[in-house]
Amino acid sequence: MAEPDSKLPLDATALIAGALPMPVLVAGPGLELLFVNPAAEQFFDTGAGLLLRHKLDELVPFGSPLIGLVAQALERSASVGERTLDISTPRHGERVADVMVTPLPEPEGAVIITLQERSLAQRIDRQLLHRGAVRSMHGMAAVLAHEIKNPLAGIRGAAQLLEDAVPDSEKNLTQLICDETDRIRNLIDRMESFGDTRSFPRKPVNIHEALDRVRKIANTSFAREVHFTEVFDPSLPSVLGDFDQLVQVFLNLVRNAFDALPETGGEIALTTGYRPGVRFGAAVAGERLSLPLEVTVRDNGSGVPSDLMPYIFDPFVTTKTHGTGLGLALVAKIIGDHAGIIECESVPRRTVFRVLLPKAAEESGGV
Ligand SMILES: Nc1ncnc2c1ncn2[C@@H]1O[C@H](COP(=O)(O)OP(=O)(O)OP(=O)(O)O)[C@@H](O)[C@H]1O
Ligand SMILES: [Mg+2]
Repeated sequence: MAEPDSKLPLDATALIAGALPMPVLVAGPGLELLFVNPAAEQFFDTGAGLLLRHKLDELVPFGSPLIGLVAQALERSASVGERTLDISTPRHGERVADVMVTPLPEPEGAVIITLQERSLAQRIDRQLLHRGAVRSMHGMAAVLAHEIKNPLAGIRGAAQLLEDAVPDSEKNLTQLICDETDRIRNLIDRMESFGDTRSFPRKPVNIHEALDRVRKIANTSFAREVHFTEVFDPSLPSVLGDFDQLVQVFLNLVRNAFDALPETGGEIALTTGYRPGVRFGAAVAGERLSLPLEVTVRDNGSGVPSDLMPYIFDPFVTTKTHGTGLGLALVAKIIGDHAGIIECESVPRRTVFRVLLPKAAEESGGV
């Protein structure tokens, strides 16, 4: 083999690949993996030793477009790339990456694959979709609230009047009417909050105080026995917003976490962090987002079923017998009103809802 045209020692190739922040893999003619860099190990959450004993098609789901891309690159003897390729797996959850496949001169039939995860832009796009879904509910909620609440109050009033007239043995029926009308009214009340597009007074809110309130409410009501872990960053600045609404957000997330917990050994962790470096590029309609406040609610429960994952922030999506499926939709709306975003990662025994918010001083000029 001719000396490579390089002033660097041969080992430097591995060194360079190692230093690259994006995952790089080399696959042989039978798709067996010949090389992976540390970013690829991290991406697939598996050490090089184990990865090199696998084939590319074992890392991605059956029928993954990535395999087709390899075939195309070899056929054309040229680089082929595809943007926002879905490389989700049950193990690693939903993921999207830009992929480039380039044939190598040797060994014959080998290709080099580089991945560029598209998480941030993709997540933001999804956020906007959720906001759209919520917005489309505004009109419907307002009409329903108006058309249903009045007759409902009438029905309830009539049942109360009847209560005095019916024998004791049938009072449970009038009670049932009252209870059920109350339930419908509560549902309408919750839906109505989607219709509320008025701007609300914003004050600097200390997120830790909101989280303390949430933990106290949870500990004295539904989650009496549950162990909460709290890791709070004392340098966390305030967020400009509404205390009660933010309490509602985290209470909904904690309630969901609680509902998913196992019978024993359930744990809910609340964390906060200040990451001033986190900026989202101009991905969102020219907006430049700086969302340095991070709050996470993590649980070791059953996890969100992967087929449900893309829809959990949509209204009326629920797996619970008595759920309304409005909890997360409302959370997404409130976080959107606070100019933040929310995302979720979930595998069984580890589900994390991550809320990113702007800090008070920066937000005051905008929204
Ligand atoms: N922490 C979690 N772990 C597992 N699944 C979750 C978690 N949070 C949400 N989910 C899933 O997302 C669905 C939607 O949640 P959402 O809060 O919107 O509605 P809900 O909890 O079912 O009803 P409601 O909030 O009205 O009681 C849930 O039914 C559940 O399947
Ligand atoms: Mg809920």
